[in-house]
Amino acid sequence: MESLESISSKIISCKLCDLCKSRKNAVPGEGKSNAYLLIIGEAPGRYEDDTGRPFVGMSGKFLNKYLEMVGIERSETFITNAVKCRPPNNRKPLDKEIDACRPYLLGQMSSIKPKLILGLGTSACNSLGIKYKHLSEVRGRKMHMEFYGLEVDVFITFHPSFPMRFKSQRDKFLEDLKKVKALISD
Ligand code: URA
Ligand code: SF4
Repeated sequence: MESLESISSKIISCKLCDLCKSRKNAVPGEGKSNAYLLIIGEAPGRYEDDTGRPFVGMSGKFLNKYLEMVGIERSETFITNAVKCRPPNNRKPLDKEIDACRPYLLGQMSSIKPKLILGLGTSACNSLGIKYKHLSEVRGRKMHMEFYGLEVDVFITFHPSFPMRFKSQRDKFLEDLKKVKALISD
């Protein structure tokens, strides 16, 4: 089994897709090596690219606040993204970039063996191979699935930038995170 440190060092020098050309820093992810909860976002943004750390910009602050509201310690989780390098102008990562980066995610999952994987939004679903017409079909409940030979429990909610922008969605986001807290606590 590959260690998280070894996966991170490969990510930092990775050139498997074109996102390597425009990144300042790859962002492998951070947190506890035996975290109960593995959180998957979309892609690094400007601040993440500057610092090499996940979710340190505005959506990160919003996410931190909501995790705290439901009693999830961010430092007890491991938090990463579907792609580890920032897409130019923060565009959505392409399917081929998510495909190229998936082995790192798979390595992180196998190493951490979380009780639950929390996928934030559409790119996280894409990286997990979860298909739907509308996100509401898969959002808000625990799903058991097999992912490249790994048995995993997955919970999908919005990417935090969505409730951050649309206030009317914040209650649903909070309800989802409360369910996540209950699932990792029992
Ligand atoms: N949005 C993400 O999806 N990931 C980050 O790391 C930051 C913002
Ligand atoms: Fe490698 Fe992933 Fe960065 Fe692409 S996004 S260069 S696959 S680490």
